[in-house]
Amino acid sequence: MEGPKPSRSEDYSHIVSFLNEQLRPDQEWSIANEYPTAITPHNHLNMHIVKDEQKIVSHALARDLIIKSPMSLFKVATIGSVVTDSKYRNQGLSKKTILNCLEAGAERGCDFALLWTDLHDFYSKMGFQLAGSEISYNLDRPVRQSGEPLNYIEGNRVSAQAIAQLYNKHTVVSLRNASDIQKYLSIPAMRVYTAWDASNRLRAYAVEGKGIDLHGYIHEWGGDLPDLFSLISFMQKKNNMSYTFIAPLHSQNLHRQLQGLGFKSNHGYLGMFKILNARSLFLKITNYARSVGLVDFVLEAHEGDQFVIGRKGKTYQTDSLQEITSLIFGPSTPNQLKDFDPETRQIIEKILPLPMWVWGWDSV
Ligand SMILES: CC(C)(COP(=O)(O)OP(=O)(O)OC[C@H]1O[C@@H](n2cnc3c(N)ncnc32)[C@H](O)[C@@H]1OP(=O)(O)O)[C@@H](O)C(=O)NCCC(=O)NCCS
Repeated sequence: MEGPKPSRSEDYSHIVSFLNEQLRPDQEWSIANEYPTAITPHNHLNMHIVKDEQKIVSHALARDLIIKSPMSLFKVATIGSVVTDSKYRNQGLSKKTILNCLEAGAERGCDFALLWTDLHDFYSKMGFQLAGSEISYNLDRPVRQSGEPLNYIEGNRVSAQAIAQLYNKHTVVSLRNASDIQKYLSIPAMRVYTAWDASNRLRAYAVEGKGIDLHGYIHEWGGDLPDLFSLISFMQKKNNMSYTFIAPLHSQNLHRQLQGLGFKSNHGYLGMFKILNARSLFLKITNYARSVGLVDFVLEAHEGDQFVIGRKGKTYQTDSLQEITSLIFGPSTPNQLKDFDPETRQIIEKILPLPMWVWGWDSV
């Protein structure tokens, strides 16, 4: 057995064949088309493999995202395409491959790793935990029409540049250029809807489905709310179907409006997180706190995995990275951790949870 180790460029086509055989046996498209910025020859060093007699038997990849939030830029290793050949399972190969991927991610300076899965017990063995927030709504009846007449188009032959402009108005985004968006627009089994005004300006977009995932989910969207709601109404009417609409917790105006229309919000997790560089992550958070005048805010990582949070003179210490992770990304609130005094609690709540989100096209 050889590995786990980063793949070489000549392994790339074998990896894609292995992933297609194992994970997409009945699809007419290649898995590489579903994850065009992750499964690509450029990312081969972040694709970790185990070989047995020259044959790939286990794989996991990381694709780095730079996430821009009002607080800071975060470097995030998103982990995906984790699979071991069925004949080689339960020998610890995936665990080793994932840990190898995470170690490399930490060395590249990633603040944390993030993945999406139903196998919570499996990934918790590698230190991942459910955290962050995803708010969803079942849009089972018309949302609302804006007064202005818009022209609605279904199809992916739309300007990546126009989508980029609306996308970049979001509070939290991963850095993408128009060429990334162009690749995302070609993902199979995905429906893209856009709304245009009389002067042919893109006013809203909404994306449903993504390869074998996210059928019925609107996971990427943008535009002002009246325009977006009109677009969704058009989708509901045209396809005579309801949609699950997912949104970040920090989209407060959107939540107010949907809840005002009588839609019930469901609180889920954003994904499974694992902090890789606590010091760098905590420094970004404390720098932000200082920049907004909260000079007493304390969040530190000490030798021996001791973590300290609070305000100067009133700190709370824990050796549980889990507690700290759940406080940083949510959903824990300070009170669920400890009986902080009101002033400390207020300071922490001004900073945490971090506004964090990954749009659907970026999931791996
Ligand atoms: C899930 C999968 C990747 C595990 O691969 P593997 O090489 O057999 O896993 P490992 O042997 O490294 O298992 C590591 C640990 O997880 C446990 N584990 C393995 N599969 C598990 C599962 N499906 N659910 C929960 N725990 C699991 C093992 O018992 C082992 O526990 P231990 O460390 O306490 O002994 C493999 O079953 C697979 O390829 N499945 C199909 C593709 C898939 O579902 N990928 C994950 C997509 S998110």
